[in-house]
Amino acid sequence: MSKSLFKFCTSDEYNNEKKKIALITGANKGIGYNIAKYFSRNGITVIGTSTSLQGVKKINKTLKNVGHGVILNINQTKKIKKTINYIYKKYGIIDILINNASIHSDNLLLKMLPKEWDNVIKTNLSSLFYLCKYVICNMMKQRYGRIITISSIIGTTGNIGQINYSTTKSGIIGFNKTLALEVAPFGITANVVSPGVIDTGMTKKLNSEQKKNFLSKIPLKRFGKAQDISNVVFFLSSHQASYITGQTIHVNGGMYFN
Ligand SMILES: NC(=O)c1ccc[n+]([C@@H]2O[C@H](COP(=O)([O-])OP(=O)(O)OC[C@H]3O[C@@H](n4cnc5c(N)ncnc54)[C@H](O)[C@@H]3O)[C@@H](O)[C@H]2O)c1
Repeated sequence: MSKSLFKFCTSDEYNNEKKKIALITGANKGIGYNIAKYFSRNGITVIGTSTSLQGVKKINKTLKNVGHGVILNINQTKKIKKTINYIYKKYGIIDILINNASIHSDNLLLKMLPKEWDNVIKTNLSSLFYLCKYVICNMMKQRYGRIITISSIIGTTGNIGQINYSTTKSGIIGFNKTLALEVAPFGITANVVSPGVIDTGMTKKLNSEQKKNFLSKIPLKRFGKAQDISNVVFFLSSHQASYITGQTIHVNGGMYFN
């Protein structure tokens, strides 16, 4: 970048020149894996988390030398802090945080066990508190950052048998709105991507009747691909999206409009 151009650049434009470091949770399969692969193919250094060594090996093989995998169970608060500190030591900064990891444990409210409720709330929602809290303090110092959290169409429509999951997925949207307001003065954006039905391990469990039922509700007449989500996440992580914050982007083939 020439000196004169530098003079007129905002800090955001200046940061556009720098190779970015992204932390992606749940990067060993499904949507998180696709995001990790896509980011690394597009010049972003990725640290992808997995709960198992096998998953870390898979991430390492895919990322080659543009990042690596780390073991992290987002239910373990102390491990979140330790992992983030490790990344700071190794790379100095986390520019992009993708909160992707999530579970579901379905049951009707009447039958749901407290542990089914607690586990989903802790994994899908409470983890955000720690991940975002530890990441933003350094993002604030560099006055730049991108946070993208993956919600779900179930967070806006609800779904019988998924009261715990839908609570976390709508909670993410509220969390993000306040987060976006608090970090905006520091050049950090925070957005949510809300997928519809995406062809991953999660949806492979559906039987043919359930698949037919879902397809009949999708105006674009197909399930989404993980890449459909990665495209939007990548855009929100980029300089092109520097004026978008606090938003929820629905990627669902027309299944639900805001
Ligand atoms: N697939 C869909 O149709 C769909 C639809 C809407 C939203 N989503 C959302 O997209 C995201 C990715 O979903 P997916 O379909 O790829 O699911 P997936 O089950 O294929 O992957 C989930 C990932 O989360 C990780 N994970 C689970 N528990 C964890 C824990 N305690 N600590 C750390 N990591 C943990 C898993 O290891 C895995 O990498 C999730 O947030 C999900 O809610 C998916």
